[in-house]
Amino acid sequence: MAEQTKGTILSGMRPTGPLHLGNLAGALANWVALQEDYHCYYEIADLHALTDRTDTSAIRGDRLEILLDWLAAGLDPERSVLFVQSEVPEHALLDTLLGMFVPVSWLERVPTYKEKVRELGLDESASFGLLGYPVLQAVDIMIYRATAVPVGEDQLPHLELTREIARRFNHLFGEVFLEPQALLTETPRLPGLDGRKMSKSYENAVYLKDSAAEVEKKVQTMFTDPKRVYRRDPGHPDECNVYLYRRVFDAVNADEVYEDCQAAGIGCTDCKLALARAINEHLEPLRERRVALASQPDRLHEVLDDGARRARETAGRTYQAAYEAVQLSRRK
Ligand code: TRP
Ligand code: SF4
Repeated sequence: MAEQTKGTILSGMRPTGPLHLGNLAGALANWVALQEDYHCYYEIADLHALTDRTDTSAIRGDRLEILLDWLAAGLDPERSVLFVQSEVPEHALLDTLLGMFVPVSWLERVPTYKEKVRELGLDESASFGLLGYPVLQAVDIMIYRATAVPVGEDQLPHLELTREIARRFNHLFGEVFLEPQALLTETPRLPGLDGRKMSKSYENAVYLKDSAAEVEKKVQTMFTDPKRVYRRDPGHPDECNVYLYRRVFDAVNADEVYEDCQAAGIGCTDCKLALARAINEHLEPLRERRVALASQPDRLHEVLDDGARRARETAGRTYQAAYEAVQLSRRK
């Protein structure tokens, strides 16, 4: 693709622990593929991680863990800019500037804000930063002039707000920002081993860094078709979490599994063994890269130093344009 026709992507993840198969299938695999066709900025959103906690002790380590997972999965620091949000201070500067022009009522209406307040019981104690979460996210996107943002459905309200903020600023001060498009990730959300949402706190996740033996053990605990009690009973793959996983990680065999399951041609134990094997085949190259990278901590720091430097170049230019647009620059 010719340089000038390439669009720009920005996306981010909060460093809240090791990445799991849901993160891989729902986001990371897509991020890796997007590197072919776009200029990509991928951000470790550590400031966003501060919006719902006061215990900050894990964030430093989690940032490096997430970078290891990213590199192991195939994000390429030669092509993409991989950086830590708090190391690009222009984000905080633009956040302050934009915050002046975003009505509080817009932020109070955001569903993720209301959910967080309810979930954490924050009635009176929700922070300024939590309310401002979508402004900072809009900054992340707009400061790199991203044309597209790969997100899951849960992030759509944030993206819509980003577009509204860009529009409002441009209307007030002239065209500085782009209105980014959402690139909806097509894979449906991968449920956890027990069928609930995949989450660290439910202990129902397979992690990219799990060993082959751990994967096998975890897959054996998966829930299957509840109506299939005996081996001779025909199964209902559409109601089976194992089948859903096989469709994602063992696509070539999925149709056959569907038939065999309905005809009671395979047993659930064998079906799970095959799934564990397929997942391990997927993860093996990641594990190898992860082990190699984990032995070179200096290399990880170099990647992030370089990422912050490259990110600041673009972010600085956009911030300067916004600063001039609101007529704060001393020399015209
Ligand atoms: N809010 C996103 C999440 O929790 C993380 C994020 C921060 C992000 N900044 C972003 C995603 C910018 C897309 C674009 O998943
Ligand atoms: Fe699920 Fe496989 Fe058992 Fe069918 S055979 S119910 S798809 S685990």
